[in-house]
This record gives sequence, structure tokens and C-alpha cells, in this order.
Amino acid sequence: MELSVNGQTYTVDVESDMPLLWVLRDELNITGPKYGCGIAQCGACTVHRK
Ligand code: FES
Repeated sequence: MELSVNGQTYTVDVESDMPLLWVLRDELNITGPKYGCGIAQCGACTVHRK
């Protein structure tokens, strides 16, 4: 899978159902987005798309 984050293109080999937050944090080492409440209330995991 190829994805572009903050203007940079990455290729990752992950399961298709892996949450984006884990792809960013665990595969790309982009730790800005965080796991917070886990119930869509705090916004810590928010990722904006263009
Ligand atoms: S972890 Fe709180 S909104 Fe995503």
C-alpha cells in the first residue's frame, strides 16, 4: 500500500484492516496522532485528509 503523509510518499506492507493510526505510529513512526479515549470523543487520533 502506498500513502502520502505530510507531502512524503510511503510504501507499507500491512494488513488491509490495520487502523490508520497504527500504520502511522507503528510503521511510519509518525507519533503526532495518538490513541486517547478509543471512543471517538477526544480527538487525539484525528488525521486530516486533503
Ligand atoms: S482516541 Fe479519542 S477520538 Fe480517537
